[in-house]
Amino acid sequence: MAVKKHGHLHHGKTTRDILDAADVLSKAGLKTGDIFLDAGCGDGFISIVASSLVGDEGQVYALDIYPESIKKLENEIKNKNIKNIETFVADITEKIPIKSDLVDLCVMANVFHGFVANKEVEKSLSEIKRVIKPGSTFAIVEFKKIEGTPGPPLSIRLNPEEVEDIISRNGFKVSGTIETGLYHYMVLSEKMK
Ligand SMILES: C[S@@+](CC[C@H](N)C(=O)[O-])C[C@H]1O[C@@H](n2cnc3c(N)ncnc32)[C@H](O)[C@@H]1O
Repeated sequence: MAVKKHGHLHHGKTTRDILDAADVLSKAGLKTGDIFLDAGCGDGFISIVASSLVGDEGQVYALDIYPESIKKLENEIKNKNIKNIETFVADITEKIPIKSDLVDLCVMANVFHGFVANKEVEKSLSEIKRVIKPGSTFAIVEFKKIEGTPGPPLSIRLNPEEVEDIISRNGFKVSGTIETGLYHYMVLSEKMK
């Protein structure tokens, strides 16, 4: 698949060293047997942790538009002999290649500000909304809007209130915003029934 030209894609970036996947997933409520989607997974470090939390009964879908990142994740999956992660090279703003009303928890970490900057909010959120079960959780993790590294330029970072406002206008009911680690916050929401 050809990589589309977007403004802010951050191909090949990972927050593996600064974001605690286990903290994100426990605060977002991931359980054994869940179907989990890592939307814009990068090298998939969140998916790797999710795979052991959901266990043999569960399923992890890891998706990114950047083939090199998916290749990296596939190598890790092979080396660790993981059986419950399915990977996709796909564009969230076009089509997520999974069935509707399937996902128990979708985490989108460090991706959403790019969709806002590129004016791709409606297209991306309508696909995310399609694949999440009604009443199930959508968690957006973003860098706090503070000066300095790590993270994207301050001008494209979002406040929690901005994220909450955008998703509530796109079919999600916000349940709250919490801190995760030094640099990030997470907005938790439910797909409206
Ligand atoms: C800053 S990285 C974050 C990666 C990972 N979630 C993390 O926190 O380490 C943003 C990721 O979003 C992916 N991405 C951007 N636009 C996308 C789209 N339209 N569809 C799928 N993935 C996309 C990029 O390829 C990149 O891997």
